[in-house]
Amino acid sequence: MDSILVTGNGPLSGQIPIAGAKNACLTLMPATLLSDEPLTLINAPRLSDIRTMSELLRSLGAEVTSLQGGQVLALSSHDITSRTADYDIVRKMRASILVLGPLLARYGEAVVSLPGGCAIGARPVDLHLKALEAMGAELELKDGYVHAAAPGGLRGGTIDFDFASVGATENALMAATLAKGTTVISNAAREPEIVDLARCLRAMGAQISGEGTSEITIDGVDRLGGATHTVVTDRIELGTYMLAPAICGGEVELLGGRIELVEAFCEKLDAAGISVSETASGLTVTRRSDVIQAVNVTTEPFPGFPTDLQAQMMALLCTAEGTSVLEEKIFENRFMHAPELMRMGAEIDVQGGTATVTGVSRLKGAPVMATDLRASVSLILAGLAAEGETRVSRVYHLDRGYEHVVSKLSGVGASIERISDT
Ligand code: EPZ
Repeated sequence: MDSILVTGNGPLSGQIPIAGAKNACLTLMPATLLSDEPLTLINAPRLSDIRTMSELLRSLGAEVTSLQGGQVLALSSHDITSRTADYDIVRKMRASILVLGPLLARYGEAVVSLPGGCAIGARPVDLHLKALEAMGAELELKDGYVHAAAPGGLRGGTIDFDFASVGATENALMAATLAKGTTVISNAAREPEIVDLARCLRAMGAQISGEGTSEITIDGVDRLGGATHTVVTDRIELGTYMLAPAICGGEVELLGGRIELVEAFCEKLDAAGISVSETASGLTVTRRSDVIQAVNVTTEPFPGFPTDLQAQMMALLCTAEGTSVLEEKIFENRFMHAPELMRMGAEIDVQGGTATVTGVSRLKGAPVMATDLRASVSLILAGLAAEGETRVSRVYHLDRGYEHVVSKLSGVGASIERISDT
């Protein structure tokens, strides 16, 4: 396993390119199953999760070719040989459940392993299943697998989500494109990744309206064609790297960044004393003074403050002036970074879904352990301004969602390197 060493090294300056969105790509890739014509994805991120999704699609008989160093993915589902997504792949990545809707819509059957537990929460898929049943799917849970059938094809239905689930909205949206009739999804997730998926499906010939709002309407069509689609910028990578100059000082331009992807996040940065301005090529971030103001944060579905930026924001607030209260409303167990930050001298009190952070003047470098994808990067951010060296172990978590972290941060002046623990 590898570790990352980071040492507080003063203000940062320069540019960081932001990649295509992992969480958009992970739903765009299964969309290939809806058509027998080629789907080409441009601006794909080079991440282990993308490689896992490629492995899963190949196991079904799809062709996935990685071009231009992984930034272009050429997909084809002309010859699907299996409709079963095995546990040994699904357990590596929960987004594997997103092949369920497309397989069912195109082939009338699918057998997909239940994803199982996850470090940050139980993360059931009941809303995914309820949505497909509303479109006429017959589902049976057996031996840890969902056995889904729609012998006469799916039919348009009315779906009203109890919670605006991102994945369930994506599964329902993809399945509805080939259903007979009209499907209306109410309380749909509004994330930019949903909008990106709808744009791609429309380019493939789908009839969709309302994406980005809480109500999406899909008129099913008989078949979908191919498309070439550019993956939307990763708003979570964007927000993560915006925090680097916020924590260290200096000025960094995030290439490809757009305010509308991170509006709620920018409001909190502004309240903390961080300035964000749009440039011709992205967003520039500086802090207005050396003192960060404490702010309260509550995570919500988009357009609220993203849960995927909660851990990173906590790293900033550890050295804010005053006390910040962070409420995690999306996942049950998403404060695993708190004990690690406390090893660095942070003062954090976690009570259930609420973390109270009392700012200290400076953190101290220490050996810490990554526990999940976003927790791992929050430890690196904390180490950027800590006194001395921080060693973050188990950085395989990081490889799932962040490409070239070391080169991107060292490129703006951070003292950071990756070493092998073996
Ligand atoms: C997506 O997960 C993202 N993953 C997550 O990013 C992100 O944190 C999450 O959306 C929320 O924004 C991908 O897009 C691959 P949800 P997803 O369904 O679809 C409960 C990262 O770090 N729920 O909106 O699984 C669930 O337990 C990852 O990149 C049900 O109860 O999120 C959770 O508490 C982490 N039943 C809440 O809803 C269901 O059927 C949010 O889940 C589905 C979800």
